[in-house]
Amino acid sequence: MSPSDYAARTGFDREPPFAIAAAEGSFVQDREGQHYLDLTSGWNVVNAGWNNPEIWQAALEAGLRNPFRPSWCDDDRFDALTQRIAAIAPGRRIIPSCSGNEAVDNALKLARLVTGRAGVICIEGAYHGSGTGASLATGYHVPHLEALDLQGLRLTLPRPSQPGALEQAESAIRAFEPGGAIVFETVRTNMACEAVPQAFRDMLRRVASELGLVLICDEIGTGINRLGSPFSSLDGDGAAAPDIILTAKALTNGLYPLSLCLVRERLMRHVDMSYFSSTYGGMPAGCAAAVATLDYHAEHTLGARAIAGGQALAAGIEQHVLDIDGVRSLEGAGLERALHLDWMALGRRGLSPFQMLAKLRDQRVFATLSPGEDHLMLLPPLTTPHEALVDAAVAIGKVLRN
Ligand SMILES: Cc1ncc(COP(=O)(O)O)c(C=O)c1O
Repeated sequence: MSPSDYAARTGFDREPPFAIAAAEGSFVQDREGQHYLDLTSGWNVVNAGWNNPEIWQAALEAGLRNPFRPSWCDDDRFDALTQRIAAIAPGRRIIPSCSGNEAVDNALKLARLVTGRAGVICIEGAYHGSGTGASLATGYHVPHLEALDLQGLRLTLPRPSQPGALEQAESAIRAFEPGGAIVFETVRTNMACEAVPQAFRDMLRRVASELGLVLICDEIGTGINRLGSPFSSLDGDGAAAPDIILTAKALTNGLYPLSLCLVRERLMRHVDMSYFSSTYGGMPAGCAAAVATLDYHAEHTLGARAIAGGQALAAGIEQHVLDIDGVRSLEGAGLERALHLDWMALGRRGLSPFQMLAKLRDQRVFATLSPGEDHLMLLPPLTTPHEALVDAAVAIGKVLRN
């Protein structure tokens, strides 16, 4: 896809409008009181289901004792979250902030402090947030960067799915002198769930270690069990583990804005935490919400449910959708999935992305599109019953078969 195609990403005006009046579990409700099965989870936010009452209760009880603390003071709830994170991502220090975008910014700041170099290496099509730092890690044209004259600090690697991408990427990284950080995802949410092959990830790890670059994995979409484990970049033997892992969104199940950089201890040795000061980052209410969310995930084995749910959804799509002219493939893993579509073929039968979503609404399914490429995103809450996932596949089949 060309930079101008990426620039044509228009936000949500290409989708039928929807006002969420209420939401519960796997369903959202509009102003008319109609319920829709949700295939978005608010873009990887409510992994444990909309308005999960157990999380609400636990977070409110723990958080509202004193929801705010000044950033220079200690707090039990922050300590509790630190211990909880240490159990799932050992040997890392936490830098708290409020949004995914800020976590990316902090990670890049840390990379500059550690390496003394400002260049950011990202992958074509990547989205990691809308602020200046995260925009440097954006793999398509970002108009507001032009006025800052920062283009020379950004290297965009080819899509890992392209033939020869691994070799091209490796030589481009080696030739990029300002390089200080590499930002990647294991499954690229905003690129319609294109998985990054393990060999490509291993190359990133190897070259980053050799050249002294900081390897940053954005798990803002893929983490908190969406791919079956708290952090997918820590699966396996740990050899390819990144230097910094980013988490946000589903960490508090939509209850409170909280994001974290999980940084390997040794990177923090010479860094002053005051560089990352944030008035609301890591507040008691947010930490309590995160602990309650992580406890709920563990107790209800949402990692295993994401894998089983992904299999049920894939089987439903295989049975009811994949044979349709205009359907290319189902991409992704766990419950981070997208249906890749051929709009030339579907358009010949009079279907547009907008109409597809509108017709799914008629089937009482709430869904959204991938930015830029208009593929159908399948990101339901991890708690969605398997029968509902198969029902969704049946509804998608009906709409696309037209
Ligand atoms: C993969 C990924 N990283 C980062 C972000 C930015 O997060 P936030 O909107 O909280 O700044 C997003 C947002 O959608 C995202 O999908």
